[in-house]
Order: sequence, then C-alpha cells, then structure tokens
Amino acid sequence: MTKKNIIIAIDGYSSCGKSTVAKALANKLHYVYVDSGAMYRAVTLYFLRNNIDVTNEEQVQNALEHIHIDFHKEEGVTHVLLNEEDVSDEIRQMPVSENVSTVSAIKSVRQAMVKQQQKMGARKNVVMDGRDIGTAVFPHAQVKIFMTADPKIRAERRYLELKNKGENITLEEVFENIAHRDYQDTTRKESPLVRAEDAIILDNTDMTEEQQLDFVLDKVGKAKS
Ligand code: DC
Repeated sequence: MTKKNIIIAIDGYSSCGKSTVAKALANKLHYVYVDSGAMYRAVTLYFLRNNIDVTNEEQVQNALEHIHIDFHKEEGVTHVLLNEEDVSDEIRQMPVSENVSTVSAIKSVRQAMVKQQQKMGARKNVVMDGRDIGTAVFPHAQVKIFMTADPKIRAERRYLELKNKGENITLEEVFENIAHRDYQDTTRKESPLVRAEDAIILDNTDMTEEQQLDFVLDKVGKAKS
C-alpha cells in the first residue's frame, strides 16, 4: 500500500513569520517547502514589467499563459524563478508589495496558481504557506496552522528585514502596507484570508522561532500518530 503524502498548511496575515516557521519545519522534516505568496509576487512582477492592465481579462489570461514559476533549492536556500530568471530579491521589494494584493484578488490568477500548488502537493510531503492553503488549496491538509501576531510587531520585524537589505523605507510605510494588505486579503471576494475551522491558531507575538517550531512539530506529531 502506498503511504499518503502529508500536507502542512500554514496560513495567516502578512509578515507574521509564516515562511520562517514553514522553512524550519520543512528542513526538520525533509519536506518540500512551497511559498505560495512568492508565486503571487512573481505574477505581480511579470504584470508590472509588462504593463498588464489588470482590469483587462484578456490581457491577464494571455499573460498567465506566458508565466512559468519554479522553485530551485541551492545550498539550503530556495530561489524563485520567473521564466527561469531568479527574481527572489525583486519580488520582495515595495513595487511588488504594493501591487500584489490587487493581482492576487483576480479570479483567473488564483485559479492558475491554485492549480500549480495542488500539483506541487500531489505526490510529495509538503509544507505550504499562504492565505488560502487550508481553505481552498488543500482543504484536507492533515495539519493546518493559522498564524497571527500584533500588527505593530509584524511591521517592526518586516521593517528591520527590509532595512537590512538596504531598502530606503520608513516604519510607517511598512505598517501602512501591512495594514492595507490585511484589509485587502481578508475582504476580497475570491478566497479571502480566513481561518479554516480546523486550523490551530499560532499567535507568535511573544514567541521565539524555536518555540514556534516546537509548537508546530507537536501538532504534526499528533496528526501523524
Ligand atoms: O505571503 P506574502 O506576503 O509574500 O504574500 C504576498 C501576497 O500574496 C499577499 O498580500 C496575499 C497574496 N497571497 C494570496 O492571496 N494567497 C496566498 N496563498 C498567498 C499569498
């Protein structure tokens, strides 16, 4: 009998450390890590570079046919490839952050990404983070975590991360961007960010990375036993 592959879905608000927990978990368990937000960011970058009018469904559809997104792991670091170009850094910069909520609210964009994400989790043990993984992409995931943290703490963490990368930005701008994305992600029509009924809440406002990893590992252990 073949063993069923395990899916760990980690959803939650912007900049609350989903990817840090998800990556650590995937490393520890030797699962594949998929950053679904990076996929929406890569689509957004393509749209920006090619001046795609997001209100023009024909343009959007046509663009989606020319977008190929891949993940490539090298020396423990996962790189995001957009049509074979490494865009890992560019998709984290403000122009993409400011437009990604609009692009990820488009129905056809979501359909295309969800299809790819489901394929990625079809035969492998996967940790996937995002906004709709436990609700729309893998409603039958064995483990579902819903992450949250104080918005001020989230903004401070993200601000430091961007500053360290040399971005010229203020804490207020980062806070505004996070608040705006929270609002758009939770109020959009297509697959809004909402906690799946069976998702376990992880509020990491006062938790270290190690504590978060232990918390999730404990849930995974229980789900497997
Ligand atoms: O996780 P992130 O901040 O990199 O995600 C970027 C944006 O993509 C976020 O504002 C909402 C969107 N997103 C989504 O709609 N669905 C997902 N599964 C992942 C991200």
